[in-house]
Amino acid sequence: MRLDKFLSDATAYSRKELKSIIRRGQVTVNGDVVKAPEQQVSEDAEVAVKGSIVRYRKFVYLMMNKPAGFISATEDGNAPVVTELLPEEYKHFNVFPAGRLDKDTQGLLILTNDGTFGHQITSPRRQVWKRYFATLDKAAESSDCAAFEQPMDLGDFIAAPGKLHICDDPQQIYVEIAEGKFHQVKRMCEKVGKKVVTLKRCAIGGVALDENLESGKCRELTPEELELIAQGTLVPLAVNKNM
Ligand code: URA
Repeated sequence: MRLDKFLSDATAYSRKELKSIIRRGQVTVNGDVVKAPEQQVSEDAEVAVKGSIVRYRKFVYLMMNKPAGFISATEDGNAPVVTELLPEEYKHFNVFPAGRLDKDTQGLLILTNDGTFGHQITSPRRQVWKRYFATLDKAAESSDCAAFEQPMDLGDFIAAPGKLHICDDPQQIYVEIAEGKFHQVKRMCEKVGKKVVTLKRCAIGGVALDENLESGKCRELTPEELELIAQGTLVPLAVNKNM
């Protein structure tokens, strides 16, 4: 690919800025100064700008601990959006949230600029399970667990069977579903007569929200985590109560 394309994918510089940086002799490829933006380079070339090595990548995959109060979108006329929380180094990648959380929902949100991966984890056909922790206005009952394990008619769609775990405090529950329709967890709880007071997504597939990630912060997902997410299977609750 062209040197200026390599650098515009991998850095925050604009194409115009890059052309002048390259022409000024501030870019090396495998140790040699290259002054031609159109020079072909391979993805694994050692390219440095002003002495700093730049790793090529087109796609980024981020885990965010979404705070309440932010919309899962890249722009909105009025409310703050999750992409405003991104560190500067990720802003030029034009990531978007892969699957939405409501404005008042917190927890694990994946942001990427890889549309294929985004589709893979949100499409119900791919069966990527998500786990949510919710607090309720009243105690959940064992009959609710049975209701969650059946298809549930929510009016405009039938939710596929999910799972409900009731915690020691019965106003605290975990819900597991492989879909992500609008307000789905809140509506499923309402269907059994309970109102969700707080909601947090704890896991997507085999990856739990990193407990060291403060609210509003994000970090890159590792290749192993991407694989565990794509596989779609949750780690059983009994194994990790934080998930
Ligand atoms: N279900 C909901 O009701 N809200 C969310 O934010 C996510 C799942």
